[in-house]
Amino acid sequence: MLVTNIGQLVTLGGEPGPRRGRAMRELAVIPDAAMLIENGLIVATGPKGAFEADEDTLDAGGRVVLPGFVDAHTHPVWGGDRLDEFEMRASGATYEQISKSGGGIQSSVRQTRAATDDALREKFEKHCRWFLAGGITTIEAKSGYGLDLETEIRMLRTLTGPAPLRVISTVLAAHAVPPEMARNKYVSCVCEEILPEVARGGLAEFADIFVEDGFFTHDDARRVMGKVRALGLGIRMHVDQLTQNGGATLAVELGATSADHLEQTDSDGIKALAQSRTFPVLLPASVYALGKTKYPEARQMINQGLPVVLATDFNPGSSPTPSIPMVMNLACTQMKMTPAEALSAVTINAAYSLCRGEQLGSLEAGKQADFTIWDIADYREIAYHFGVNQLWRAYVSGVHVA
Ligand code: NIG
Ligand code: FE
Repeated sequence: MLVTNIGQLVTLGGEPGPRRGRAMRELAVIPDAAMLIENGLIVATGPKGAFEADEDTLDAGGRVVLPGFVDAHTHPVWGGDRLDEFEMRASGATYEQISKSGGGIQSSVRQTRAATDDALREKFEKHCRWFLAGGITTIEAKSGYGLDLETEIRMLRTLTGPAPLRVISTVLAAHAVPPEMARNKYVSCVCEEILPEVARGGLAEFADIFVEDGFFTHDDARRVMGKVRALGLGIRMHVDQLTQNGGATLAVELGATSADHLEQTDSDGIKALAQSRTFPVLLPASVYALGKTKYPEARQMINQGLPVVLATDFNPGSSPTPSIPMVMNLACTQMKMTPAEALSAVTINAAYSLCRGEQLGSLEAGKQADFTIWDIADYREIAYHFGVNQLWRAYVSGVHVA
């Protein structure tokens, strides 16, 4: 297939590797372009005059073409809903108060344990349609609303079943301590039962843990991640979200592939990240949706040369949005990232943070033909017009999926 008459082909091509610091502003845009695709892979990109149209040509009508978004942090399967908590927060309650009184993650755990496999699958499929409709062609997807062997496995089976987009699964058994067990006993259960079973079944590529007051400690994380490493899984971590407790530095110490949230991370944490290979994954929609005001220090991170990633954190509690354009808008308005930096953060950098930088995240010869066509003339319109969906079409491996 030839896609031609592309107003702006935003390739994100260049030197292999994530974009760090100033390089995040370089998008490698080709104006008046075309892109040739064969067998689901990109064969060539360039000025449209260099290609000959045939019967299998798609006229993009001067629209903008981007790499499909890679959403590097989502929790897309759960049972029930958290609408009452949304209303409670609207009336002044905080996320922390609701969580301490038995709501929050525990509420989703009760509802997920009670949900049938079919109900979980139906919800997941609906969420996949939402992701695609907003231009996302790959998600990282976490379990974490089971907190027991059976339900964590059921969630991961849902995530690893057939889906219309790429799904990279993460076991988040260490999301919270279940009500029926003491913390130490549950950490042992995660290490001795859940993680080995997940690894045996090939149900996850990464494992995650929520390091936070009232959830898991640094020592719990050292135990869990020691096991994760021994099982050959990659490490992702929720750190420094609600309180600053050296979580970013801990993620570096444990050799995490990504350290996620980082709202409370201070300059020491950013320095530790800058001397590591751990990707900072920032989730501004969770700050916004909880009605908070302290966003992560993206500017400082970029100035220190970090390859910043942005993701939705799509989940029923802190971030009920599957919208990357919304996240890009928040990055620009609240964190003072430029539209180009925000775009690098949800494409090439996100792909590298999931160890998929060689296949995904940019439109270059040899890579997967995961791309989106937007009904706009300038890529900056995506971050600019928040609250409207400007996607025209989405493709995964060259196949029209939305
Ligand atoms: O990334 N912080 C922990 N986990 C999720 C929220 C989960 C929930 O509230 O259901 C997050 O914000
Ligand atoms: Fe999360």
